Amino acid sequence: MITNRTYAVEPWAVRETELNLDLLAQSESVFALSNGHVGWRGNLDEGEPHGLPGSYLNGVYELHPLPYAEAGYGYPESGQTVINVTNGKVLRLLVDDEPFDLRYGRLVKHERTLDLRRGVLERFCEWTSPAGSTVRVRSTRLVSLTQRAIAAVSYEVEPLDSKTRVVIQSELVANESLPGPNGDPRTAKALKSPLQPEEDMAVGPRLRLVHRTRTSGLRVAVAADHVVDGPEPTSTSSESNTDVARLTVTSVLEPGQRLRVQKTVAHGWSGTRSRPAMSDQVEAALAAAAHSGWDGLVAEQRAYLDDFWGRADVEVDGDEEIQQAVRFGLFHVLQAGARAEQRAIPAKGLTGSGYDGHAFWDTEMFVLPVLTYTAPKAVAEALRWRRDTLPAARDRAAQLGLRGAAFPWRTIDGSEGSAYWPAGTAAFHVNADIAHAAVRYAVATGDADFERDTGLELLVETARLWRSLGHHDHHGTFHIDGVTGPDEYSAIADDNVYTNLMARANLLAAADMCERHPDVAARFGVDDEESAAWRDAAEAVHIPYNHELGVHEQHAGFTRYQRWDFTRTRADQYPLMLHFPYFDLYRKQVIKQADLVLAMYTCGRFFDEYSDEEQVARNFAYYEPLTVRDSSLSACCQAVVAAQTGHLRLAYDYTAEAALMDLADLEHNTRDGLHIASLAGTWMALVAGFGGTRREEDHLSFTPRLPEKFSRLAFRLQFRGRCLRVEIGADRATYTLLSGSPLRIRHHGKTLTVNGDGPVTRAIPASKPRPAPEQPPHRRPNAR
Ligand code: BGC
Repeated sequence: MITNRTYAVEPWAVRETELNLDLLAQSESVFALSNGHVGWRGNLDEGEPHGLPGSYLNGVYELHPLPYAEAGYGYPESGQTVINVTNGKVLRLLVDDEPFDLRYGRLVKHERTLDLRRGVLERFCEWTSPAGSTVRVRSTRLVSLTQRAIAAVSYEVEPLDSKTRVVIQSELVANESLPGPNGDPRTAKALKSPLQPEEDMAVGPRLRLVHRTRTSGLRVAVAADHVVDGPEPTSTSSESNTDVARLTVTSVLEPGQRLRVQKTVAHGWSGTRSRPAMSDQVEAALAAAAHSGWDGLVAEQRAYLDDFWGRADVEVDGDEEIQQAVRFGLFHVLQAGARAEQRAIPAKGLTGSGYDGHAFWDTEMFVLPVLTYTAPKAVAEALRWRRDTLPAARDRAAQLGLRGAAFPWRTIDGSEGSAYWPAGTAAFHVNADIAHAAVRYAVATGDADFERDTGLELLVETARLWRSLGHHDHHGTFHIDGVTGPDEYSAIADDNVYTNLMARANLLAAADMCERHPDVAARFGVDDEESAAWRDAAEAVHIPYNHELGVHEQHAGFTRYQRWDFTRTRADQYPLMLHFPYFDLYRKQVIKQADLVLAMYTCGRFFDEYSDEEQVARNFAYYEPLTVRDSSLSACCQAVVAAQTGHLRLAYDYTAEAALMDLADLEHNTRDGLHIASLAGTWMALVAGFGGTRREEDHLSFTPRLPEKFSRLAFRLQFRGRCLRVEIGADRATYTLLSGSPLRIRHHGKTLTVNGDGPVTRAIPASKPRPAPEQPPHRRPNAR
């Protein structure tokens, strides 16, 4: 049970009613606003106090040297790190002659609310200065989902008991000093003042700063415009220097009078555009935003989100925390990807600098599944970013002596950023994950243009990689040796089942897509010989199985390893990687995160078609006691397979873990940014777990079953131009076609058609009782 909640439990909002300065960094992540292009952490308007100031532009990073104690061929020479760009959020306030700073004086009332329907962060507070003046401050902030470059704040101050002189300083601040040492001193040096000034301007209410990163050479322009509303006389002045541009607004207010500043901030960056062009770009974005006005921006935001929720909402009856969390998760997943537009979707979105702002396979296997069925346009954009990075991926493959493309394990600009090759270079599954996401998107939308302009190239280049990475043995069996699967407590393993099954799907899908589009395939030099070789490899791929135990092996030989001594591992020794050497983790049966279990979800048909009905349950029962969930990517995958195998109670507990990862700060690192994959995983646990939603070729199937605690679960899916609503109760499920032409689906194995004539209801068969699987001691999910 989660106790001491920081946020009130409400269906459509995340609300904080007390300000705990120790939790400031965590709430800055939770209250972060983003549209996938611009990200503003939930820093207090006044800039201080802060946990971690954060303003990010997707794709803006700096390079730093990657040090190696022992050099080796093919190691990346420099690392990429997201940087804190020019901060447009800051509105400092002076009350009489004292700075409004919540570390001093008395905070009488405080409330911050992230409104998931309006897409704004609202703040309300009353504060008494050390000298005894009390003011009320209200602010509303948004990062526009409709105008990609724009963020805006409405900031209002009002004295409560006496005539008060008020000064608001609205600023753009570059090169803010960041708290704490940033790990390696060489990295810290590269990141200290990463922005070199090129231009500063302040004319009336308009401010602008243009900078350029030192090594990566990216130009960043940020401009602001203001509308000031206060009693006469209210005066303004503005000034700028290289790193600060400031509008100062002064007024004397009687109780009941208000001074309001509406600030609109435009952001832009480029590796190629000139300084004047960048200045014009942000000025033009400001002009467009001014055309909408503050009220227009707020209304557009609401309309955008109404449309999103109409397509994407998930309703849960019976657990209010999960209801809130799934909407919070969907909101942040949307924010991470909505307007990323041919840029990466980082593991933390644009909510913090954790993982250096890198994108991993999290995007394709956790975030894109949600967006495919709720906001599919964003998926095409994210995969077009991968396509645009193909030149770097081809170079990397060539450097590794392989064909095709080897996508990076972690990256911002498309080049490999991992300095630890056993869990970086060797994690080749990321290539099949990208291919899987491309196929998922193409099938779920029927977007043939995408197949031709993006999907096919991604599939061909990844298929080529697998064909050259693996080999046929003298029996003709195809092996992929020496790779790392999702479980990072096993590395450089042979025939990892997840990797092999995903590679198999990649090879077959590439051959099929080339057959569908022979002209495009020919352009990429694919001939019949090549696609036949892909099919041969796919059909001969080795899937290791232990006949004695009746279970698949996570990788060849895995079940022979010594089991980790869980009984002698203390609760405070998790995560294991921080307390035990990797070499020991690698040679024992201990699993960081769902691997074979994930394969049973993503490649479920293999297990259905080639195994007996009980195989999935047997595998799950075998791997559960070995899985420690030292990654936040695990619980949601385990939830899906627990639900599939009828362990609904366990699935429920895992769902709650994924759902509350950040709202309850379960891993104590939400301050670094949100766990976007786990938030997306909440949707996955509900929709694929309890909804039993699977994509089978070009149709959807469902095997819904609810845990006891839920009285109802309802969700909506976008599929091939339709919007389908699924509503599940304790003993029946109802399918309603909200828009689009009739759709054939399957419910617990039986085909049915939904059309405009009305909902179709079917009974839910009882699940087969099975003994509850064990987890390692100390690693059971919290029972709710
Ligand atoms: C996990 C990876 C994941 C990364 C970023 C690691 O702890 O093991 O699977 O991609 O975090 O979320």
